[in-house]
Amino acid sequence: MTRRKGLVIAMDGPAGVGKSTVGGLVAKSLGYKFINTGEMYRALTWKALERGLDLNDHDGVLGLAKSLSWEFKPVEEGGSTLKTHLDGDVITAQIREERVSVNSSLVAGNPGVRKFLSKLQRELGVEQAREAGGIVMEGRDITTNVFPDADVKIYLDASPEERADRRYRQLKAAGQEADRGAILAAILKRDLNDLKREINPLKQAPDAFVIDSTKLTLRQVADGILRRIRRGAKGEGRAR
Ligand code: DC
Repeated sequence: MTRRKGLVIAMDGPAGVGKSTVGGLVAKSLGYKFINTGEMYRALTWKALERGLDLNDHDGVLGLAKSLSWEFKPVEEGGSTLKTHLDGDVITAQIREERVSVNSSLVAGNPGVRKFLSKLQRELGVEQAREAGGIVMEGRDITTNVFPDADVKIYLDASPEERADRRYRQLKAAGQEADRGAILAAILKRDLNDLKREINPLKQAPDAFVIDSTKLTLRQVADGILRRIRRGAKGEGRAR
């Protein structure tokens, strides 16, 4: 692979585990860029729904993906978080729509789309590590498929109950209605989709360091990762 200036830090883990919060904190501390690759699958899902495509039509959705212009850049000048832009528009609020959350696993299970987005993710990571300080990239298959040779590999985990509780507290704090049982059921369904996917399912890379965040704050998790990186650790084993 091309010589890099900065590091590629790859992070995977199940839905609702705090990968974006942790990834954003780590990137900011290191002066790196951060990207959530789930947003790419969501942005494409949203576009396909807007166009009225059948999401089970793999060729149709792949054709749409290839016809769009994909850019990853911060919303504010100098920001560290890269956001997905399609045909010049940032796709942010739209990707949180319920119909997108429910349907994005169909798009993520499309083999052609996975190949297409994995390539974009690899190119982005190499470019950022070569030209910017470095990158933190999170998703489900970054440590195993997109960057199996990442400088640092992290698998962030937490029990489904803890992930549901965090989401419940978040919604309550924002003054929204929340049903803990329904949240837990949705998390278990998303886990199943990610784990049983035929191509690039969620799994722990053997050389990733595994962090169970069930009893930690996300700030503590980020600090643990930063300590490891500063010590020059590559992964391999459980973070303490
Ligand atoms: O992280 P998220 O729930 O926003 O991701 C949206 C969808 O994309 C979800 O179905 C998981 C999938 N995904 C994936 O298959 N591979 C990635 N690297 C990131 C997300």
